[in-house]
Order: sequence, then structure tokens, then C-alpha cells
Amino acid sequence: MPKEVTFVIQRFDPDRDKAPYFKTYSVPWERKDLTVLDGLYYILENVDGSLAFRASCRGAICGSCAMHINGKHRLACNTLVSRLGSDKVTIRPLSHLKIEKDLCVEMKPFWEKFEFVKPYLMPGSPPPPSGERVQTQDQREELNIVIDCIQCGCCFSACPVTLTSKEYLGPAALLKLDRFVRDSRDGAGQERLNLADGLYGAFRCHNVFNCQCCPKDLDPPRSIAHIKRRIMGIKLLGRGK
Ligand code: SF4
Ligand code: FES
Repeated sequence: MPKEVTFVIQRFDPDRDKAPYFKTYSVPWERKDLTVLDGLYYILENVDGSLAFRASCRGAICGSCAMHINGKHRLACNTLVSRLGSDKVTIRPLSHLKIEKDLCVEMKPFWEKFEFVKPYLMPGSPPPPSGERVQTQDQREELNIVIDCIQCGCCFSACPVTLTSKEYLGPAALLKLDRFVRDSRDGAGQERLNLADGLYGAFRCHNVFNCQCCPKDLDPPRSIAHIKRRIMGIKLLGRGK
């Protein structure tokens, strides 16, 4: 293991800079478990206090440290430098989103898509007398493949269609929509599928599969395909399973 690792970071302050540029820093590499986020904090605290980035939980839960690291969208907090296969770490902010400063981007377009798909349970009936909407084990397991999204934005940023079609819902919002379509306690499946059937919904996906970069190992293309099948099932056969 080398004693130092080189961080090459895209910097940009819209109030001062005409265009983004790269700046190089040396970070001591004394521990095998050094993460990219550790390196960023080292730079912030010891070298350059003007570096801007987002992070909170340090445990791959809050989704705020998503960025483009050595050619791939990843979470800085769970990316070990030793796993990158290089002693140079090149970091850019998430793509397709306006840079606020350095590695911080404006997430509003991402959150607007989430809001559009109504990311909350809509049971459509009063709760049972027990007050609890019980699921069987199988019904709960149906959600395992969609429930772990931490809204980091990696898939949204990796998708070329979200770049060329600003209205496209994008992989994260469609995965969230699928999460509620699959939920046995939800009563708004048809309404949700109608939302995904618009000009900028599931059928806008071009099957590029760049969104298969999820740091939580989710599979947005599978959700998009599931939504398309359900919509086509309703249209062609009058049923949506
Ligand atoms: Fe991030 Fe994965 Fe959720 Fe996309 S699906 S926002 S990559 S956690
Ligand atoms: Fe929360 Fe990385 S700091 S996901």
C-alpha cells in the first residue's frame, strides 16, 4: 500500500469561477480501510477548508455522499480507496444536475420526480379494527427488491435519458413507484400506473442500463420492466398482474 493517495477533485464556485477545473491533493494512506469520504474530510480539515461536499451518516444510509468516483457513480462513505485499484482517486459531482459548489449539486429536479410519483402508502380503505395492515411473509418479501432505496441519485445521474429529457421521471422515481405498486397494503396501483404511463414515464426508458450502478444493489431496470408489463397487461388483457 503506498503511503499517499492522490485525490483529483473537480472544483467549481459559480460565484468566482468561469468553468469547473480539477485540483490535486495528497492524502496520507495509513489505514487499509480509508474511504473516499475519509479522504475528503482530511482535505477539508487539513488542506483546503473551502472544499464543498455533502455527507451525513457515513454508513450508506442517508444517500447524501453520492458522487462520480473513478468513472462510476458511488457513495464516498462506502467506497474503500483500496478497492479502486489505483492510488489516484478522481472525483466529479453527480452529472446532469446544476453544480452549487464543488461536489454539491442542486437536487431539486430529482426530488420533483419523487414527489410526482406520490412516494407514500395510499391504502384507499379505512384501517382494520386492529389498526394494523398486516402483510404475509411472502407479501413483505415481494418488497425486498425495491425497498432499500436511499434516494442517493446515482441512478438518476447515470441515466442518459434524464440528461436529454428533463421531464423523464428517471430510474429512482420509477423504482419508488414500483415499490408501492408491489405493496399489498396499497390501494392506488391503477393511479400509480397511470402516472408511469405518460409521455415521460416508464416507456421513455431506452434500456441503456446505466442505472445499474446502485450502491444498494437495487435494479431500477427490473422495476421499469415490471411497470411496463403491468401497464401493457391492463391495456391488452384488461388485467395488470
Ligand atoms: Fe440511489 Fe439505488 Fe435509490 Fe437509485 S435506486 S436513488 S442508485 S439507492
Ligand atoms: Fe450517508 Fe454516505 S454519508 S450515504
